[in-house]
Order: sequence, then structure tokens, then C-alpha cells
Amino acid sequence: MINKSKADQALSLNLSIEALRNSLKEHNYRYYRLDAPLIPDAEYDRLLRQLEALEAESGEPVPADSPTQTVGAPPSHTFTSRQHGEQLLSLANAFDAEAIEAFVERNREGLGLEADDQSVQFIVEPKVDGLAINLRYERGVLCIAATRGDGTTGEDVTDNIRTIADIPWCLQTDAESNAQTNDIVIPDVLEVRGEVYMSKAAFADLNARQLAEKAEPFANPRNAAAGSLRQLDAKITAQRALSFFAYGAGLGARELAASQSALLSKLHAFGFAVQQTAMAVDAAGLLQRYQSVMQQRASMPYEIDGVVYKLDDFDLQQRLGAVARSPRWAIAHKFPAEEVVTLVDNIIWQVGRTGVITPVADLQPVAVGGVTVSRATLHNMDELRRKQVYVGARVIVRRAGDVIPEVVKAIDVDEQAVFPVQPDVCPVCQASVFKLEGEVALRCSGGLSCSAQLIERLRHFVARGAMDIEGMGDKLIARLVEEEKVSDIAGLFELNYASLSDWTGMGEKKITNLQTSIQQSKQRPLARFLHALGIRHVGSATAAALASHFGSLDALMQAGEEALIAVPDVGPEVAASICSFFAEAHNLDVIERLLAAGIEPSVPEQQVSNHPLAGKTIVLTGSFAAIARRAAQEQLRALGVKPASSVSKNTDVLIAGEKAGAKLSKARELGIEIADEAQLLVWLNWQ
Ligand code: IVH
Repeated sequence: MINKSKADQALSLNLSIEALRNSLKEHNYRYYRLDAPLIPDAEYDRLLRQLEALEAESGEPVPADSPTQTVGAPPSHTFTSRQHGEQLLSLANAFDAEAIEAFVERNREGLGLEADDQSVQFIVEPKVDGLAINLRYERGVLCIAATRGDGTTGEDVTDNIRTIADIPWCLQTDAESNAQTNDIVIPDVLEVRGEVYMSKAAFADLNARQLAEKAEPFANPRNAAAGSLRQLDAKITAQRALSFFAYGAGLGARELAASQSALLSKLHAFGFAVQQTAMAVDAAGLLQRYQSVMQQRASMPYEIDGVVYKLDDFDLQQRLGAVARSPRWAIAHKFPAEEVVTLVDNIIWQVGRTGVITPVADLQPVAVGGVTVSRATLHNMDELRRKQVYVGARVIVRRAGDVIPEVVKAIDVDEQAVFPVQPDVCPVCQASVFKLEGEVALRCSGGLSCSAQLIERLRHFVARGAMDIEGMGDKLIARLVEEEKVSDIAGLFELNYASLSDWTGMGEKKITNLQTSIQQSKQRPLARFLHALGIRHVGSATAAALASHFGSLDALMQAGEEALIAVPDVGPEVAASICSFFAEAHNLDVIERLLAAGIEPSVPEQQVSNHPLAGKTIVLTGSFAAIARRAAQEQLRALGVKPASSVSKNTDVLIAGEKAGAKLSKARELGIEIADEAQLLVWLNWQ
């Protein structure tokens, strides 16, 4: 019986089983043959799982050529086909801790061991994102290199493979590299398996060259590696800086080693690059390694998309065997997908603090790079058109590392699609819109009479790192603006508190607290006050540099462009922006009222000399929630701190944010003082 709801769902996506099979075959072809996929891997996996479910529910026999039954694509006719000596298996994927616990449990059970047995070792290897290659060595000499193809037969790419420096033409057997393995016997036939990949740096170079030559850039390093390897002219492959990691062996493996870890050392001794691995005896240990590899991911020189766990001992591997195309003794634990597909529910126009009107996509919530995303900026009209985004579009959303999620582009663009047009009046205040010369940004001409701009400006003013007015949340700001209690930032200090007392939810205590925090904010140092003013191009780092250079608000306000340019990091554009800010009558009026209300922005003398970090060498690593790393570095510099980029014995303190990785481990090793973000904020706000 067909499950109605799922079948309906498939039909609603216009995908019957047959259509889904055809669509997946086309995606296979584009991925394996053309090296130019249209959809992210996660979307491909989703479609494949959907087909699997529909096939299971239909009860019909599944044809042998269904994408659920095949691996990759059959070899092309351009390259000669080569049958592998031993089949190249694939790996089952796991995405969560439960699946890993189940994997360990299955392995123990299959080996007749107790559920909590700790006697067998698993090896953990990073999963390199490239393409699998089988290298056939006969009596130590490379004879054939073939792509995986369908696992049994692949394409002969020997000439191209010979251009890769990491791949030895002859296995090294000299005494030096085999110092610990001098019992080395090279099997008559040895199939070395591993991944051809392109490093992040080589990928960036290649795409820059592609763009310069007006050629289509590659979607990712893996496609670039695959495309480069399957060139008909090996000279082109040679220019593409490909690399290789060995991770296994087919024929000859057992003659060489009794375990995966021993095999990797032998392969290394033969002259292959192998990755760093670790061992674990239970699921907790495996998951710990997964976390630590994930933390290193962004700083690794090549792309990885997960880790692979393998039972280390070859005899035990053999006892467990394989199901279909994947071994029971290994599994890939994938990292959260960095690119996924979702639907655009709406496109709204958001008005920012400086009046820039930005198109923003409201998305169907989707998990990407480990977080759920439901909104993404489309930046401006040019970007929106280039990415072909419209309401109802299916779009690729990307979030890599700590980077802000972005819409990459729309896929399957509907011919009937109606693309949004840019508004000719501000969507909030209806004032006319304009563009500055040479800019693509659309701006509202309403200034502070535009409530959106006013709200954003107030939010920025009261934020942490700026005036830090506790209790002044988004809702309160919106209400103050809506009810016209405040019409600019100075208005916050001229509030009539009595008039708030009849507001629901505004008890006496809340009002007193608010009054206290507004009062306290009057003592904020000059750097924070300048940042809070929201002068174009003046972020927290520039504000700190200006404050320590000029020492007072007055001196800064008097400074001409030339004097401003003398400040480190201040260029002509920033200087011009500062001058025009202080030349505007409305801004001068606001500043005058702020000062009249008792604001005393100053640069405390002791700030530099008495700061607990003054003169110390500190390293910042990881990401921080309240402040960008560079901004923190700049502010610390202004406090007399010496920021450094790498941890050494000369480091005094390491300040570690979220996802701190190698630097944190090194600091621990060296016994260096480690501080967290909360401590960083205390230090930055020292007065
Ligand atoms: S082992 C029987 N180890 O991932 C085990 N594969 O999704 C076969 N890959 O086809 C593969 N890094 O192309 C193994 N350390 C690693 C790997 C790795 C990347 C690739 C390989 C394989 C695919 C399976």
C-alpha cells in the first residue's frame, strides 16, 4: 500500500517515483560526470531518502538502475574503464550521537561481545571531501589509477594522477623512511585507496584564475578536484594543485598490516600523506573526537565533511563483513550540512539605523551549519537579482563556521517567477528613497522622522559595548518611539518618567531601575560614547582609536580631516564621515543636549596605565557573542595591551570564545592563563 500522505507530498513536489529517479539520475550525472552539481549534498541525500521511502512503501520491485541501488555513475566512455581488484565500498552516514551509539553496539553484538565491552579499538579519521581513487601498484610501481566509478569499475585517470606530487610513482622502501618498519615486504599487487582533494588555498587560487579568465568558478573544492582530475589533457591537471591522502587499501592490505592503524603507518612509510588519527574504545570516546575535529574544521587547510570511525583490527572487520555497499565495521559521522535548500516565504524590506533599506528573505526554518535559520539578508537589489530570489523560490542557504547565514542562489528558477521590485518609498515612513552616487544601497530620506531608523539608532545607542543601558529592551524602545516619548537619542535622557507609570507592565520598580541604568550610563568612557553615536564607518575599534588619540570629545569635534587621518586605521572616507557628522546642526544639537543632561564622556587616565592587562601579550581565539574579535583586539590595544596572533610561551593570557580549538589546547599545554568572554567584557569595560 502506498502511504497516501507521503505520496501526496511527493506529488505536490511534482515528483512521482519515476520523476524522482530521473531527477536523481540527472543529479548523479551532473555530480559525477560534469563536476557541476546543481544542488547541495544535503538536498541530494534528502531526495535519495525520499525515493527510498517511496520505493519501500510502493511494494513494487525496485529496478537495478534505481539511484537507490547504485553508487556514483557508470564510467564515462571518454576514459578507459578499469575494473578494481577489490570492490571499493562506500560508507553509511550517521548524523547524531544515537546513531553512533547504535553503531558501537552493533559492532560489539556482531562480535559476540558484552554491551559495555571496551576491548576493541576504533580509529577516528577526518573525512576528507574529495574523490576516492584506487591506485594499483605492481611490485611497488604505480600502474593504474582509477576513479571509484560504480565501486567495481572506474575510469582510468593514471596520467592525471601522476601529476599529483603526494602520490609516489614507486613505493618508497628505503631504510630511512621505513626505520620502524624495516620488516617491509611490498605485496606483488597493492591497491592503495584514498582521497584526491584540493586544499582551500588552491581552490581560492583556481577560482580567482577562473574568474579572471571569464570561466565559470567551481562550486566547491571537491567539484574543483573532480573536474581537474578528469581533464583529458594531463597538463591542465598538473596546473591544478591537487593533493592526496591515503586512507586504506584493497588487494594486498592483509599482507601489509593487521589493522587500519598499522596500515596507515606503512602507507606513510611508503611515501603517502596520511591524516592525523585517534583511537577510542566506546561511543563517548568517538563523540569526543568528533567534537574536537569539528572545532579544528574551520582552521584546517582542506575541507572535511565529517569523521570516519573504523574498527581498527582487520580480522574483526572481516568477521563483521558488509551489507549492500557499506561495511558494518565503519561509519561516517557527518558534520551538520553547511549548504541546504529551503523555501522563501516572503521578502521584506528592512530599514536600518542609517536608513539603508535592505531586502531580507523570510525563510522556512531550516537547520544549516548547526543552527536553525529563518531569515537571511539579500543585501541589495543587485544581489537579489544575481541570485534570482523571489517569493516561493527554492534557495540554497549556506552557513560555514561562524559566518552569518546567506542565500547562495535560487535553484530550479520558475519561468513564471515574479521578481520583487524595489520600493520607491520607505516601507516604514513612506518618505522617498534615494541612492548615493556610486552606491547600490537604497536609502530612506526620512532621517530620524522615520521610526524604523530611530528605533535602530536607539537600539544601537543602548546596546552592550555602546552605552549599555540595562532594561532598555527592543519592546520598550519601540513603544517609546510609537508613543512619541522619544524622538532622538538625547530624548532618552529627557524622559518624563511619570508619564510611563500608567503603561501596563511598567511598575514603579521597573521605572526606578530604568532611571538608575540611564543615570549610570552617563559615565561611559568616550570610546563607547563615540561608538554609540552611530557615526558612519565608526565601529567600536575606530571609536577606541579616536578616543585614545584625541583624549576628549571636544578635541575630536575640533579635528579636521587631516588630523583625523593621522589616527591609525582612519582613512579619508572615515575622516570625511566623522567631519560631516560633526558639521550637521541636528547632530550638534543632540550632542549639546546629551552633555546638558550630564553625560561626561572621558578617557580615564588610569585606563591605560592601571589596566590589569596593560603591557601584557594576549591572544584572542574563537568567536564572541557580544563583540567581534577584531574589535576586541583594537579596544584592547587602546588599553595598552599587546595582542598577538599565535600562542607561545610569551603569551600572558589566552582569551577563548566559542569554538576555540588548537590555540586553546596549546595554551593549556603551556599552562597559560585562560579567560572567557565574560572576563573579556569586564576587561574592556574597566574604568
Ligand atoms: S573509508 C570501506 N576513510 O568518503 C571504507 N573514506 O562516503 C571506504 N572518504 O568513498 C572508505 N575520507 O571517498 C574512508 N578517512 C576516510 C575518508 C573516506 C574521505 C570518502 C571516500 C569514500 C566516501 C564515503
